[in-house]
Amino acid sequence: MKGILLAGGRGTRLYPLTKSTSKQLLPVYDKPMIYYPLSTLMLFGIREILVISTPHDLPHIKHLLGSGAQFGLSLSYAIQEQPEGIAQALVIGANFIGTDNVCLILGDNIFYMGEQYHQFLSAVHRDEGSKATIFAYHVSNPQRFGVIEFNEHLEAISIEEKPQNPKSNFVSVGLYFYPSDVVAKARTLKKSARGEYEITDLNNLYLQEQRLNVVPMRRGNAWLDAGTPDSLMDSSIFVQIIEKRQGLKIACLEEIAYYQGFISREQLQHLTQELSAGAYKDYLQKVLDDAHEIY
Ligand code: DAU
Repeated sequence: MKGILLAGGRGTRLYPLTKSTSKQLLPVYDKPMIYYPLSTLMLFGIREILVISTPHDLPHIKHLLGSGAQFGLSLSYAIQEQPEGIAQALVIGANFIGTDNVCLILGDNIFYMGEQYHQFLSAVHRDEGSKATIFAYHVSNPQRFGVIEFNEHLEAISIEEKPQNPKSNFVSVGLYFYPSDVVAKARTLKKSARGEYEITDLNNLYLQEQRLNVVPMRRGNAWLDAGTPDSLMDSSIFVQIIEKRQGLKIACLEEIAYYQGFISREQLQHLTQELSAGAYKDYLQKVLDDAHEIY
């Protein structure tokens, strides 16, 4: 399974924070925003990842993440000239995807997966290659999102993008798993009234073919999108609270790479030695000193 991390857009809702900096490089507490969706891909076991951003922002993202080898990843990069819609990422990534299955994640989506994480993994792998899998999350303000309607058997029956009168409080999060035929489907999409290739239109194609799994993310999981000043602040506070309380980091890429077996202990030791003195180095040293992964 390959991964695409879409980190473009204009970040207009965060202006002037985003006048000279990419939204996805802004801090969410102690890490750049893009670390969080990248960590989610890694937790799904995905190591071959295409990062897509604007011509202006891509060099800065490349400077931050490089080849990805330090995290046991293989990162490649592509430009989206104009923000013409989330589904366009799958067309830009057509050669990269080839005949593989693919996971698309949005660069401003932050997931903190609880006990249900293992269920998510099995849901994704169960129909891998034949069906698409997306996730539904209960929110107080569904109008801002792709809204999912369920029937009494908890089967999705419709998805509407930013409806004025939402049919439910369940919305589609920015994490999508597709079979390789997604590229051909994405190519058939027409631009919506707001001038974008809509990810919701793409998901509706799978729904019509009865090839869409919608997995409800229960309340023990946190999903935040850091695209507005308030949600950016909320995300930072959320990460700060959990990290300070537990003494464990969210989206520490070196730690995840180590626990996922993407890098060896020796590689983690080397990465830690290379860092300048500070809290991040101290944390990685603690990861090395702890005998077992129990969390
Ligand atoms: O966050 C989940 C929601 O994301 C879904 O519920 C909606 O169905 C989906 O359409 C999308 O809604 P948003 O209005 O939040 O999407 P937004 O335009 O803010 O784009 C999300 C991220 O993707 C943002 O970080 C910028 C990036 N992006 C967006 C577009 C349209 C790109 O990199 N290129 C683009 O062309």
